[in-house]
Amino acid sequence: MFTRLKQSLVIWLIKKIQKYGPHKVCISGKTYEISENVFNPRHYFTSRFMAKHIMVTSKDTVLDMGTGSGIQAITSGHAGSKVIAVDINPEAVMFAQKNVKANGLEYTVSVLEGDLFTSLDPQHKFSVILFSPPYLEGKPETYFDMALYDSDKELVSRFFRDAKEYLCPGGYVQMIYSSLAGTEQAVSIAEQSGWDHSIMARARTFTEEFIIYRLTLRQSNHHDH
Ligand SMILES: C[S@@+](CC[C@H](N)C(=O)[O-])C[C@H]1O[C@@H](n2cnc3c(N)ncnc32)[C@H](O)[C@@H]1O
Repeated sequence: MFTRLKQSLVIWLIKKIQKYGPHKVCISGKTYEISENVFNPRHYFTSRFMAKHIMVTSKDTVLDMGTGSGIQAITSGHAGSKVIAVDINPEAVMFAQKNVKANGLEYTVSVLEGDLFTSLDPQHKFSVILFSPPYLEGKPETYFDMALYDSDKELVSRFFRDAKEYLCPGGYVQMIYSSLAGTEQAVSIAEQSGWDHSIMARARTFTEEFIIYRLTLRQSNHHDH
């Protein structure tokens, strides 16, 4: 009951910030432009916290799943990695492309529209997959709602079922999740799909605790092609 109340408060706050918050924001010296329909990377703790813990190098090929403004893709691009970013929201794709270009990364970071892995070539494998999923309970009615709601963890389930096809041997998923939505349930879904996890970082805010997980495939679950 208390969690429901907190979730409603968080949703109310997010929608106000999206509508009235600045649509051009600066994070670690980089500027990101967004619209009210694209997840604002400045005003939610998750975006900056996740970006701070990206540990990729020029040797990595990175997939940024659910890119929004493009912040995680751009952070990885600045570290020298080759990146593909995906989002289901066409307006997010447009702004992410714009932000990639403004950062001079258009030759190493590509942005595609798609529902999870559907727009990707299964031959293409990644050493790191970044995932900052929506986690609140509710039914998405607009594109922006898709940044917030994942009813019954349907998206998380599909992600962990399909991600194994796209990971290089030895690669990992970096996922951020919230105590407000049940971190234990999310990792148990991953476990059932054949993933092991460890904690990379955790932080508490006034509404919830965020945990960044590193997930790797159990040996028997690797798909060799
Ligand atoms: C919580 S936001 C995170 C945005 C960004 N990664 C960040 O750190 O600021 C989640 C993003 O996932 C996208 N998304 C939701 N469902 C998706 C799906 N089925 N396939 C691809 N992207 C999806 C949303 O449109 C949204 O941009």
